[in-house]
Amino acid sequence: MPLEKKTDTPLMEGKSLFISLEGIEGSGKTTQIKKLASYLSKQGVSTLMTHEPGGTPLGKSLRKLVLDHQTPLKNTHSEILLFIADRLEHVDAVIKPALDAGKVVLCDRFVDSTVAYQQGGRQLPESLVSYLNGLVSIRPHMTILLDISPEEGLRRARERSALDRFEKETIDFHQRVRQMYLSLSEKEPHRIKCISIDTLSPEEVFEKLRPLIDALI
Ligand code: TYD
Repeated sequence: MPLEKKTDTPLMEGKSLFISLEGIEGSGKTTQIKKLASYLSKQGVSTLMTHEPGGTPLGKSLRKLVLDHQTPLKNTHSEILLFIADRLEHVDAVIKPALDAGKVVLCDRFVDSTVAYQQGGRQLPESLVSYLNGLVSIRPHMTILLDISPEEGLRRARERSALDRFEKETIDFHQRVRQMYLSLSEKEPHRIKCISIDTLSPEEVFEKLRPLIDALI
């Protein structure tokens, strides 16, 4: 499967770029993605902000199903298949057209979420996860991993709103998800940039994130 090549072309020339943000619950991805979009827009960069699950109409329905803690999803294969269906539609309907139009796409969660949650968290076999993620034809140029301890992340998530199906999982589940993210960033250090955020304010996190993006520009 083709990996999107890292580009040295300046963003200002309209070269497309695909950046994903990853992290466990309460890691503040949404805040950072908004800061990043506003930073890039101020520089005249055409940006698309999107997220998984839920970046398409189909995805919005899937999102409701997979996050609702009252939805009885008994079989872990149905869960991963829903995320993959969402991603395949999202790539074809939203991400690829935006990249073809020369935009910078900022995506809140992508393939690494499936590895972290369904392989790490749910303990599905690597071969299955990698086969299903392999149906997805693109990979981010850069992935920002916001690393936080599950205790702190869940505390923040609890403050924010009622907990969804994943947030209600055990601390062991969240530890496994975090460990899988960390091992992914060790395996692919050139693509996945990890920022430890436990004690940082959103502004301080952005100050760490900005140079990584500037380096791409
Ligand atoms: P969301 O509300 O978007 O969480 P957050 O605000 O923390 O990003 O819910 C997405 C949930 O879905 C999150 O708990 C992670 C989970 N998820 C997977 O388990 N696998 C996946 O492939 C994706 C994209 C998300």
